Amino acid sequence: MATFLILVQLLFIGTLIIPGHTQTAQPGKCYLLQNATAGNFSVDAVPPTYQPNTTFVVTITHNITLILDKDVSHYLLQALTPQNVSVGEWKDVEMENCSSIDTPILNNTQRVATWISPNNNNISSVQIRAYIAFSDNSTLFSTVTLSKEPETTKAPPTTTPNSVSMVQSSSFFIAVVQVPLLLVTGKLLS
Ligand SMILES: *[C@@H]1O[C@H](CO)[C@@H](O)[C@H](O)[C@H]1NC(C)=O
Ligand SMILES: *[C@@H]1O[C@H](CO)[C@@H](O)[C@H](O)[C@H]1NC(C)=O
Ligand SMILES: *[C@@H]1O[C@H](CO)[C@@H](O)[C@H](O)[C@H]1NC(C)=O
Ligand SMILES: *[C@@H]1O[C@H](CO)[C@@H](O)[C@H](O)[C@H]1NC(C)=O
Ligand SMILES: *[C@@H]1O[C@H](CO)[C@@H](O)[C@H](O)[C@H]1NC(C)=O
Ligand SMILES: *[C@@H]1O[C@H](CO)[C@@H](O)[C@H](O)[C@H]1NC(C)=O
Ligand SMILES: *[C@@H]1O[C@H](CO)[C@@H](O)[C@H](O)[C@H]1NC(C)=O
Ligand SMILES: *[C@@H]1O[C@H](CO)[C@@H](O)[C@H](O)[C@H]1NC(C)=O
Ligand SMILES: *[C@@H]1O[C@H](CO)[C@@H](O)[C@H](O)[C@H]1NC(C)=O
Repeated sequence: MATFLILVQLLFIGTLIIPGHTQTAQPGKCYLLQNATAGNFSVDAVPPTYQPNTTFVVTITHNITLILDKDVSHYLLQALTPQNVSVGEWKDVEMENCSSIDTPILNNTQRVATWISPNNNNISSVQIRAYIAFSDNSTLFSTVTLSKEPETTKAPPTTTPNSVSMVQSSSFFIAVVQVPLLLVTGKLLS
């Protein structure tokens, strides 16, 4: 009887401890990123090229609920440098810190968010990652990379047209013009 009571007490203490453990292991919504797989949907930014200190409007477009017949629970976003460092600032959204990456958590009616790029000029490109989380805890992701517009210092053409190919192409042109002319004159003569 005594051992039975001790067992009951141990089980009772156990049930008190275990829920506390699982709660600290998974704070917030970051767990939704864990098993994300690539999805067929689009994430776009306007403007589409990277510039420092600029406001970008990021939009998620998809038809997945029609195809998969699952409800969306949240949209999550991230903005990363090529070194996977979280950059910039998301405006007016609920944020979480997922493995040191700023991650806006949008509800299922928000598909648009505003992101402001950092002011320093040493970033070559930024990858925007978008995640669609479903009510069954499955998650799809898609990305778009914003690159800097190439510098408009165009290199002068390295090859100058050589005279031989000029002559060849001009005689080809004459031949093309002459064939219909010959046909026309041939018809007129006959
Ligand atoms: C992710 O996958 C692992 C292994 O299959 C599973 O144990 C875990 O519960 C999954 N996480 C989520 C949030 O679905
Ligand atoms: C992705 O979705 C589009 C329409 O939303 C569809 O036309 C296309 O076939 C899909 N691609 C794949 C690989 O499923
Ligand atoms: C960044 O952009 C904002 C708004 O366009 C402007 O007010 C601010 O002066 C800019 N900051 C710098 C350091 O250029
Ligand atoms: C979404 O599905 C509807 C109905 O099938 C279709 O008319 C629409 O073009 C699709 N949109 C995209 C972005 O695939
Ligand atoms: C950045 O993260 C992606 C996805 O997690 C990974 O495939 C890639 O190797 C990482 N790149 C660097 C430079 O760590
Ligand atoms: C985000 O969390 C990490 C630990 O996971 C911590 O080192 C970092 O300081 C946090 N960043 C912010 C901005 O709170
Ligand atoms: C989703 O978030 C937006 C903006 O925060 C809010 O206006 C809206 O009421 C929210 N919708 C739901 C269903 O929670
Ligand atoms: C870019 O510049 C910022 C501030 O000017 C600095 O904190 C950061 O380390 C620099 N990053 C790289 C990759 O040089
Ligand atoms: C999704 O995962 C969270 C955290 O692990 C869990 O509390 C919740 O019950 C899960 N929901 C479903 C539908 O599996």
